[in-house]
Amino acid sequence: MAVTTRDGSAARIERDIEHLATAPYTRSSEAIRRYAYTPEYRNTLDWFTRELEQIGFTVSEDPLGTLVARNRPSGVPAFGIGSHCDSNRNGGKYDGTMGVVTALEVCRLAHEQELDLPLQLVSFLEEEGSGFGQMLLGSRIVAGRIDESDLRERFRAIDDGRSFWEHAEAAGYEPSRWRECAAVLDGLTGWIEMHIEQARVLQDTGNRIGIVTAIAGYVHADVVVHGRGDHAGATPMDLRLDPTLVLAETALELERLAREAGRGTVGTIGEVEVDPGLINAIASRVRFSLDIRGPEDDAYRDVAGKIATAAATSAEARGMHAEYVERQRLPATPMDEGIVGALERAAAATGEPYRRMHSGAAHDTMCVADRVPVAMVFVPCVDGISHHPAEDADPADAALAAEIILAAITSLL
Ligand code: GLV
Ligand code: MN
Ligand code: MN
Repeated sequence: MAVTTRDGSAARIERDIEHLATAPYTRSSEAIRRYAYTPEYRNTLDWFTRELEQIGFTVSEDPLGTLVARNRPSGVPAFGIGSHCDSNRNGGKYDGTMGVVTALEVCRLAHEQELDLPLQLVSFLEEEGSGFGQMLLGSRIVAGRIDESDLRERFRAIDDGRSFWEHAEAAGYEPSRWRECAAVLDGLTGWIEMHIEQARVLQDTGNRIGIVTAIAGYVHADVVVHGRGDHAGATPMDLRLDPTLVLAETALELERLAREAGRGTVGTIGEVEVDPGLINAIASRVRFSLDIRGPEDDAYRDVAGKIATAAATSAEARGMHAEYVERQRLPATPMDEGIVGALERAAAATGEPYRRMHSGAAHDTMCVADRVPVAMVFVPCVDGISHHPAEDADPADAALAAEIILAAITSLL
């Protein structure tokens, strides 16, 4: 069988990425919009299934829809590769999808080169939290990092408020078997996820490959402030209970605390809900999200604790009440030095520039790490832009990553 060159791999990766950026794989042409249990997501899983079956992989889905493709019978040890193919709600073409397409390319190369490598490709369900507001949902289920009551009650669809459980059933899955999702990691001897960097370290340092040594941990939470809805024109300034002021004070305090904490700590208010959200009405209620992260658990968790107190204090001082509810948290996750070393040797052998680095973004690999030795490979994305349609990355870098991953796995087996 003809062996594909690196340029040939790049052309294939580019073709696949562009194909999946069109209808019927996204519900919008302005951004990639592909969420769990939607027809676009189904079409994408079906597309990967067809491509993988063509090279002899057996493809299945776990009871909730994480896709698993193997070139060995289930239960036989294999090396895991993959990422996620759902998108951010304002997504680009590359976040997650380039990782699954590159994993597919690794499988194609191994097949063409008749390497007889035992491989398992995984595309995790709902990494972005776009459907249910819960990031890394599929891999947290696989890792047993959720409770049944979360799936039945707590996790609700952003669009219609129905439970995850109901949506999974409506899509033909079996949520009552969620504990069996753990089998996705059975028999994995290692795991490598390829992803765009989502920052600009590689671009600014002139490197084509990042070898991740650790992934930042995070806390996700919501603050709800209860004020008193009233007329915007007729209510004097000293007779108001306006919850947007608590939002404003908390946003500034979050910036101050994250800067003060340093050590890579970052904090973001990404969702703001103002109820009733009318130009001529004082809000009765405000909800805002908190995304607080960093490579050092004590630093960013301290900020999360302090900001909860700051929001409550700001609300009380203004005669209101604020509630802080944590959505989820994952600790900072070190990568396996054995796999990192194999990737470094494989990268060095290509003669292309690479560096070790940490990941500021979260990845399913954090959950795989509970049971399997893991590592990640990054490729640059233009100006570091991600979670935005302007996201851009070079398929030639992904082809280089595929070659490095293939060489590293070969050296590890
Ligand atoms: C993943 O999408 C993240 O926000 O880190
Ligand atoms: Mn991603
Ligand atoms: Mn993402």
